[in-house]
Amino acid sequence: MESVDWQALIRLRRLFIEGPAAQVPYWRDETDVRSYDLTFAQRIGWKWDFVLGELRRLGWTPPAGVVVDWGCGSGIAGRAYVGAFGLERVQRLHCVDCSPVAVEYALRRAREKHPGMEVAAGLPERVDVLLISHVLSELSQETVAQLLELCRRATCVLWVEPGDYPSSLSLIAIRERLRGELHPVAPCPHRERCGILEPENEPHWCHHFAPVPGFVFHDPDWGRFAHEMEIDLRSLPVSFLVLDRRPAPPLPEGTVRMIGRPRIAKPHARILGCRADGRLFEGWVMRRRLPEVYRFLRKERPPSLQHWECDGEEILAWGPWGTEAGGRPEATGR
Ligand SMILES: C[S@@+](CC[C@H](N)C(=O)[O-])C[C@H]1O[C@@H](n2cnc3c(N)ncnc32)[C@H](O)[C@@H]1O
Repeated sequence: MESVDWQALIRLRRLFIEGPAAQVPYWRDETDVRSYDLTFAQRIGWKWDFVLGELRRLGWTPPAGVVVDWGCGSGIAGRAYVGAFGLERVQRLHCVDCSPVAVEYALRRAREKHPGMEVAAGLPERVDVLLISHVLSELSQETVAQLLELCRRATCVLWVEPGDYPSSLSLIAIRERLRGELHPVAPCPHRERCGILEPENEPHWCHHFAPVPGFVFHDPDWGRFAHEMEIDLRSLPVSFLVLDRRPAPPLPEGTVRMIGRPRIAKPHARILGCRADGRLFEGWVMRRRLPEVYRFLRKERPPSLQHWECDGEEILAWGPWGTEAGGRPEATGR
């Protein structure tokens, strides 16, 4: 962090908030990209770690082949992807961005982090895995349409955006346009129309929270980052979408993807969940029936993918979902 140019970050932060669409490319030089890479991009990397961890939990593996990081910036998405799935699944990593300064930086960092990996600038003919991260707010309708065409050429698409309402709704609209050709893998535990689009679910958006590494809270540089950027380091909301041309088996009945965080009241905890039948549903954990589950939901960070058994709105059995347990849920609440 010693080499961070704080003035450059303040300028970038202002651009991100104001919507820099009219001003791309906004990277002036390598200092801009490096300062971003050491700060904003690290936080985005923790979101990618969360998303890639969710995919591994599902037992999902990507095809081995050509990976494209589109709108790469400093290249954090590509590096996180290779870190998670390994060099052996990457024939070549392509970095694509309207800024040559960004592409050059991303390529160099990818070579440094993964020596021996083949890297290249620009779009290849064949795209096996398409990575897209934190670009939607900067793109015109026309560019989004071109990006959707690129998605249609890929075997799978991993798309990560900030977990705010507009980003989530944009990703949901993209899912609706692509789900006829590509199967939704995550976060959705189903392939139906997104339940959030039902009129009664208008207040909701599909978002999750990535964990933040503990060292951040004791590090004076991160303290300065939080102060200067006016960012709450504790909260790392994320919206994401993973699509795959290869069909996957449906998830077991009772699988639920938690949306947001549980809402805790004295007698109960309420969890908004997306169910395997495509419905958005608010389940209630009653404190007197499932005291341990209630305490866990109140104090800990519950896993995103869960298993529920319900009677009406009440959750009678609750457990984390995971292939580590042989694909069977560990039912904490039985
Ligand atoms: C907020 S940065 C995100 C960078 C990186 N994907 C990440 O998650 O850290 C958005 C990136 O998209 C790039 N970008 C914006 N419009 C673009 C376009 N039309 N074509 C290619 N790249 C674009 C910008 O130059 C910038 O590097």
